Amino acid sequence: MKKKEFTSAGMLGFFLKGSVALFAASIVANLFGTIFNTLVPQIISVTIDSIIGDEPLNKVSSFVVDLLGGIDVLKKSLWIVALIIGILALLIALFRYLETYLTARANQTLLRRMRNTTFSHILRLPMSWHDRQMTGDIIQRCTSDIDTVTNFVSNQLIMLFRILIMTVISLIMMFTMNLKLALIASAFLPVMITYSLLFYRKAGRYFKQCDEQEGVLSTYAQENFSGARVVRAFGKERYEKEKFEKQNVYYTGLWVRVERFLALYWTTSDLLLAIQLMLIVVLGTIFCVNGEITTGKLLGFISYNTMLMAPIRQLGRIVSNLSKANISLRRVSEIMNAEEEEYGTAEQLSGDIEFSDIIFSYDDKPVLKDINLKIPQGSTLGIIGATGSGKSTLAALLDRLYETERGQITIGGRDIKDIPRSTLRNNIGLILQEGHLFSRTIGENLAIAREGASDADIRNYASLACVSDNIEGFAKGYDTILGERGVRLSGGQIQRIAIARTLMRRAPYIIFDDSLSAVDSETDLTIRKNLKKEFEGSTVIIISHRITTLMNADNIIVLDDGKIVEQGTHDELVAKGGIYKKIFDIQMNLPEELKGDLQ
Ligand SMILES: Nc1ncnc2c1ncn2[C@@H]1O[C@H](COP(=O)(O)OP(=O)(O)O)[C@@H](O)[C@H]1O
Ligand SMILES: [Mg+2]
Repeated sequence: MKKKEFTSAGMLGFFLKGSVALFAASIVANLFGTIFNTLVPQIISVTIDSIIGDEPLNKVSSFVVDLLGGIDVLKKSLWIVALIIGILALLIALFRYLETYLTARANQTLLRRMRNTTFSHILRLPMSWHDRQMTGDIIQRCTSDIDTVTNFVSNQLIMLFRILIMTVISLIMMFTMNLKLALIASAFLPVMITYSLLFYRKAGRYFKQCDEQEGVLSTYAQENFSGARVVRAFGKERYEKEKFEKQNVYYTGLWVRVERFLALYWTTSDLLLAIQLMLIVVLGTIFCVNGEITTGKLLGFISYNTMLMAPIRQLGRIVSNLSKANISLRRVSEIMNAEEEEYGTAEQLSGDIEFSDIIFSYDDKPVLKDINLKIPQGSTLGIIGATGSGKSTLAALLDRLYETERGQITIGGRDIKDIPRSTLRNNIGLILQEGHLFSRTIGENLAIAREGASDADIRNYASLACVSDNIEGFAKGYDTILGERGVRLSGGQIQRIAIARTLMRRAPYIIFDDSLSAVDSETDLTIRKNLKKEFEGSTVIIISHRITTLMNADNIIVLDDGKIVEQGTHDELVAKGGIYKKIFDIQMNLPEELKGDLQ
């Protein structure tokens, strides 16, 4: 068994495996693009100062000018400079393309890895974990939370690197051009950063409100669509429509407020940028007149100043998204940090089942009290009892869907806690009352029980569960698609398909948890007869409300409020005159025409 707990950062590192090289490559591409980009103002400034004008060249530029044939050649053929700028523009475009492409690939790789790992992890989490979660919440964590994290990494985090690269390069250029002007220009940096952070902190609160209200809106919609029958039955369409409209107006109003607020930010920060630029231009011109800076350098300086200031305005957005992404990452980490169940082996179990002194509660609610029970191999046990008496819980404990609190369950003398869960479950065919079928074909639903099942197998087990006639009655037979976009089955049909599916596993232990309830008595009897014939050596547990379903069992227990209150064969229990007898009498006291069902 694992498990090391991940922190949020550790979790991100884990998810980034496979995409981190792509992200790094995209940052390198950005670095090259930015460097080429910063060369252009340099070239223009040298051209103005020394090629058009007569300023002396510095070391680097005279080296480059010499390479190109010397200053006199360039003075006559300015097109060479234009060509170089054109080539640079091409290179910039190439690296921008590379950067975008690499980021997109990294993003998809990260997204894929996050989705796959969380999905397969969730499939291996214990039932007790699933009980504590709401399906909608898990789906949200697997979709929008994962999207938020990947978006943050591929857009915002990458942008942070870009801003950093741009800022460092622009500052270096500006400080080498003119110290005084650079100091004045960069004095605005902290102002801009603070302004951006403060603004987005407030905007973050607005965004959060929008998200929450969007949740409320979609819950309204979802509840009304899934409860469409109820809404109509009570004639509540108008009321629900008005409720939805009111929420919708409120929600859209929130967005308008956010947009207005952001518009305020971008325009005021534009203004701040304009003031800074104005100051640089005015002071720069004065310096230029005084001979402290050349015209070309001033032009270059102004270009770098724009490169420096514009992206800084994004910082607030990045920081505000950071906390949102962090929350999402934590929500995903919570899933990933929940402990998986262990993998099992293909071992075949055998022997008697024994419950000794079992006590079990869900959270604080005691459900099973002092259960002692022996089920000999190959025998049939019947369990009867009121709703909520703990019948399903007893079956779930045997399947280790939950862990017993006290006491021990053994199979063939082995504590089931020492048997890996999947080994145990391969040996126990548990058929639930609410058999869940997937939105696939009937054949596929049956085939999931056994790998490599042939069509003949599938048909054989469908007929054992008395459902083959129904299936063959559909135009597409076993290829009939079930679910929302397919055929809707009746409760009895679903139960019988679920039975066929479990029987296909040929497990040595089979549990029917109320799984014959929606099947008529005659079919119930046929299925049990088939079972007896086909599954001779199997140990069978039948949980039912219907006495006729379990009256032929070798042993019957009556559960009442989590305790076994009566135990014996049908005849013994009837003779005893307790609860069982009472249920028997009520059920026997049926109209004449139904009595024929009893066998
Ligand atoms: N997953 C669960 N979490 C909390 N309580 C549960 C859960 N499943 C069942 N219970 C409660 O435990 C009791 C026994 O339930 P169950 O074993 O399903 O009874 P039965 O199958 O006899 O109707 C009931 O009171 C039920 O409300
Ligand atoms: Mg039940």
